[in-house]
Amino acid sequence: MDIFIPYLFFFLLLPFSIYLILFFHKEASDDTKNLPPGTKGWPVLGENIDLGLLGLSKFIRDRMEKYSPDVFQTSLLGDKVVVFCGAQGNKMIFNNDGKLVIPWLPFSLRKIVLPDFDVNSPYEDAIGLFRNFQYDILKPEALRQYIPVMDALARTHLRDCWKPHPSVKAQPLINNYTFELACRLFLNVTDPERLQKISRPFAPMRNGLMSLPIDLPWTAYGRGIKAGKMVRAELTKIVEARREEGREKRDLLSMILELKDEEGKCVSVNKITNFFVGLMVASYDSTASAMTSVVFFLAEYPHVYEELLKEQMAIAKSKAPGENLTWEDIEKMKYSWNVVREALRLVPTAPGTFKEAMADISFAGFTIPKGMKTFWTPHSTHNNPEYFPEPEKFDPSRFEGSGPAPYTFVPFGGGARICPGRTYAKLAILVMVHNLVTKFRIEKAIPHEKMVVEVMAAPSHGLLLHLDPH
Ligand code: HEM
Repeated sequence: MDIFIPYLFFFLLLPFSIYLILFFHKEASDDTKNLPPGTKGWPVLGENIDLGLLGLSKFIRDRMEKYSPDVFQTSLLGDKVVVFCGAQGNKMIFNNDGKLVIPWLPFSLRKIVLPDFDVNSPYEDAIGLFRNFQYDILKPEALRQYIPVMDALARTHLRDCWKPHPSVKAQPLINNYTFELACRLFLNVTDPERLQKISRPFAPMRNGLMSLPIDLPWTAYGRGIKAGKMVRAELTKIVEARREEGREKRDLLSMILELKDEEGKCVSVNKITNFFVGLMVASYDSTASAMTSVVFFLAEYPHVYEELLKEQMAIAKSKAPGENLTWEDIEKMKYSWNVVREALRLVPTAPGTFKEAMADISFAGFTIPKGMKTFWTPHSTHNNPEYFPEPEKFDPSRFEGSGPAPYTFVPFGGGARICPGRTYAKLAILVMVHNLVTKFRIEKAIPHEKMVVEVMAAPSHGLLLHLDPH
């Protein structure tokens, strides 16, 4: 039997070897097309392993140094992708939505977030419901009414989950708070058991989104697909129950249940579920992660905390006991907002987005052919000393006066596709920061705890804080 093993090996390796030869032959032939420089990495794996090992920020920086500061090509999440870098790349993408580029989601991401959606349908169809609605529900006028809810929930959360303890692990608490806030405001879900049922599978679903798309029960991707189904099942139950109830509640779900399509029919439960999965993915992690970074930097830099505390105490003193924050109070939080923006610069919580070229694009002397997938990312400008001197320094004063140059500070994207939830995120973060600093002084329990920026930024030990009530 043993003598067959070398032959067996040969026959197993032969198809793989042919695949490798074809792969590298194809890569070499791409050189003739004036494509941006770069490598597609390993067959199937692409450059996902490098991305995982280096983290997005270093992955991008290394390739900008090695290939071009403007644009390079790689292979991520199972697709060949051209990555635009720098302010000019951002400008080109943001100003050409619907002309040269359209949004695109890698198949692997769709399979988790929208498993039953026809993979060949355009991205627009998948989020169409949202685009009809976003400008109404996330407009400042509509958001004004959320401030008292945010304020009351922040107070209760700090009283129940932070105050009883001399030290807390801030990151998971902030995650819980942000999740509860979104579920309350969007779906009117307040029951802790129900919240748990949606939030528990959310983390594995999110981890699956940026993992190597190999669907096996023990891979992050396989677990992500399974968790995505659980999140969907729970949201579907909520939507169905509310449709049965037929009672009007003042939340986003009630508004969507009233929507009718062109034929006068109600929007299907499936479409509404898709919408809420997309909304939770887009809103929850990025907001929770931004809030955590702000608290991280406040604990790291006492002089920043003191300056911010002065501003927040002045607002607190101008209010009657128990009186909720208002839009006007938020507008007074100028220094605090600069702190939030500086945190978002150093640790951009949204990695960027994929687009597809609608036509051949000439950029920085290269050609990006029609149909090619592209990616832009705030990591390429936020850490660039050309735009932000001493980029590693935490300095909220960068945002004073006219602030950063156009297209360099882009945590929320830009142009027609700029994040529609940016004002919601601003309110949620500032309301929490107000309540936190006016109640506690905070000190890092692990002085050298670092912010680890992989795909999503997070403190290495969950941000353990000592609390000292005022
Ligand atoms: C700090 C928090 C947040 C950050 C950093 C962030 C960042 C981003 C970025 C970079 C994009 C892509 C823009 C582009 O393609 O050019 C985006 C899109 C989006 N965001 Fe946010 N976001 C945050 C919070 C939220 C919240 C709270 C919501 C909802 C309430 C939300 C809803 C969306 C939606 C629906 C899109 C897709 C828009 C479209 O394709 O037209 N985001 N966000």
